[in-house]
Amino acid sequence: MRILGIESSCDETAAAIVKDGRTVLSNVIASQADEHKQYGGVVPELASRRHCENILPVVRQALADADMTLDDVDGIAVTYAPGLIGALLVGVSFAKGLAMMSGKPLIPVHHTEGHAAANYLVHPDLKPPYLGIIVSGGHTRIAEILDYTTFRTVGKTRDDAAGECFDKCARAMGFPYPGGVHIDKAAQRGNPGAFKLPKIKMEGNPYDFSFSGLKTYIVNLQHHAEQVGEALNHDDLAAALQQDIAQTVTEKTIAAAMELGYTTIALSGGVSANSGVRNMLENACRQHGFTLCMPPLALCGDNAAMIAAQGYYNYLAGITADESLNAVASKELRGEV
Ligand code: KG4
Ligand code: ZN
Repeated sequence: MRILGIESSCDETAAAIVKDGRTVLSNVIASQADEHKQYGGVVPELASRRHCENILPVVRQALADADMTLDDVDGIAVTYAPGLIGALLVGVSFAKGLAMMSGKPLIPVHHTEGHAAANYLVHPDLKPPYLGIIVSGGHTRIAEILDYTTFRTVGKTRDDAAGECFDKCARAMGFPYPGGVHIDKAAQRGNPGAFKLPKIKMEGNPYDFSFSGLKTYIVNLQHHAEQVGEALNHDDLAAALQQDIAQTVTEKTIAAAMELGYTTIALSGGVSANSGVRNMLENACRQHGFTLCMPPLALCGDNAAMIAAQGYYNYLAGITADESLNAVASKELRGEV
């Protein structure tokens, strides 16, 4: 089965064709990051307008790259939640129109489930059940992936996502949007031991995350330094921040895997591109004899191949939509039990 995936939840307009949920036939991404950079973050209305302009050429390109026409597509998968509502609406409306005119099934995909499915595109042996750790700009979640469409959240962030923490700290330090990748580069030059960051203590579910305290601490540290005319070493601060986030993600994921009896872990989401997170989790998995799957860097961030992959499995499970499909800004995982 060949699924056309469409993604427009934030600032990437993307379309892709994926065969049987596993093989990428084409993968086109039009990023707006350079335009939003001048405002220090995504401007929602601007994102919607750009999606509106980009969506048709991007879908056309995805079909052309796969050497296909719409007739050759077996289903149209689209991100319907969560994300910026105006941005999601462009993809959802476009996919509905395509599905209606072509008579092909319309398949709704939850963006976070899509991120997890990125691993299916590069790890042919990865099959549920396994433990997923999904870290992005909007989400940080450990989830049991019980089957392709059934998820059980083990822990999630109570406030900011890891990517939000990276980006806001990066902005305070003067790095351009999106800042996560700049923190990663700076961290490779820095000494993480040069700054002692506060350890966040939380009551209740030990697998939940909280990154807002760390974010506030670093933003305040930077602002205070500016007020007193002191220059912080940003390489060192970036290294300390990255190490702290990598440690939190790694420790909680490994502990959850041990408690729940999983030996396969799959990392995904935009922050899974972070070298500190990748290396620390990889080392910990090696020590524990766990198998770790990660997407290549090109499939960590937002793309439509992951949406088409999850769309394939949704379709097999009978998850399709009719013309009443709408965009939803905030939503728990579709298959949550
Ligand atoms: O998955 P994604 O593209 O969008 C959401 O679904 O949120 O994730 C974007 C997030 C941003 O916060 C971005 O700064 C972060 O992923 N990110 C990184 C790196 N590359 C992207 N964070 C840290 N290190 C990186 N190398
Ligand atoms: Zn994403």
